[in-house]
Amino acid sequence: MQFFGVPFTVFGDESLQYLNTILGKRAFIVTDKNITKLGLADLVITELKKANIECKIFDGVEPDPSIETVVKAAGIAKDFKPDWVIGLGGGSSMDTAKSALVCYVAGIGPLDMSPSEFYNLRSKAKLMCIPTTSGTGSEATWAIVLTDVAGQRKVSLGSYETMPDVAILDPLMVMSMPPQITGDTGIDALCHAIEGYTATWRTKFTDGPGLAAIRLVFQNLKKAYDNGKDEDARKEMMYAAHQAGSCFSNGMPGLGHSTGHALGGIFHTPHGRAVGLFLPYTMEYLINGSEEAVGLFAEIARFCKIGAGDDKKCALALVDAVRKLAKSVGQPLSVKETGIKREDYMKSMPDLLDRSVNEMMTSTVTRVPESEDLEKMFTYAYDGKSVDF
Ligand SMILES: [Fe+2]
Repeated sequence: MQFFGVPFTVFGDESLQYLNTILGKRAFIVTDKNITKLGLADLVITELKKANIECKIFDGVEPDPSIETVVKAAGIAKDFKPDWVIGLGGGSSMDTAKSALVCYVAGIGPLDMSPSEFYNLRSKAKLMCIPTTSGTGSEATWAIVLTDVAGQRKVSLGSYETMPDVAILDPLMVMSMPPQITGDTGIDALCHAIEGYTATWRTKFTDGPGLAAIRLVFQNLKKAYDNGKDEDARKEMMYAAHQAGSCFSNGMPGLGHSTGHALGGIFHTPHGRAVGLFLPYTMEYLINGSEEAVGLFAEIARFCKIGAGDDKKCALALVDAVRKLAKSVGQPLSVKETGIKREDYMKSMPDLLDRSVNEMMTSTVTRVPESEDLEKMFTYAYDGKSVDF
């Protein structure tokens, strides 16, 4: 038995108007201060009010949201008793909304959440997500990433119940993203789709959204980065991120995410930048030891009209195209380029290895590395050296 879960998705111009058609009494909106400042929360509230829905807003979400922030949001929800919990923003706000819903309904702490437990969350509230960035795809996934500040670690949580009921993709919400965030989050989406498409947990249902997302990113990310006012490119990137989310949420991310998480956990490199940095190195590693990966990368390359010749040539052409795209949208191609000092990086090697070896995403790839190979990969990635082992 296998599953493929996706939210009911409303997309395109004026999608926010869907909000004035929903049934409910109270909506709890979880977001961050920047979104309220930009007036995006007001746009949501205006539509909800037309549906006679009372709104309460929590805009205290920070980047890499903490357990404490979730507890705070859940406390407000407990008093307000919403029948809709709405995550509005980037991955941080959406993940906080998902977690707050669990804590509010189940009456547990964020870290007590179990993927195998059924909490009957819909007995009290439905979950909606409205992204304002095009990268995490959190609106299309059940996944939650929180930060345990005391334990200095990122915690991956979630269950089938934390898949949003509704996702609204209104291009208006992503038009104000600055270039750096457009680049960082866009590369994250590319990483989700490439890793999801090639993961050992991929299914016939993840293939379609994965391929579609990768092609959309190659066609539109640079355009959206160069000209934030390019509505078509913004729209396509929003769809790409969502489809990439469907792909990896129902498949699995891979080595780019496990190594990127380790780097981000120690050096606070933004998520997309960190996972995108490692993606080409991990692709080379897979190509060097997995015929299956070579075939899958070649499929992607041909679908996107990248490269020519046999599978190996196409797969390597895809790696080259990933590096070129990343560079063109302001991404570092080596750890050195991020500004992290070699000495600090090498000193952190045991921690980097410990974190990445223990990530589940390290074991859902077609060539699972031992610690020695991971260490070599981390070292090569510092200097920007192509992986030759
Ligand atoms: Fe990601």
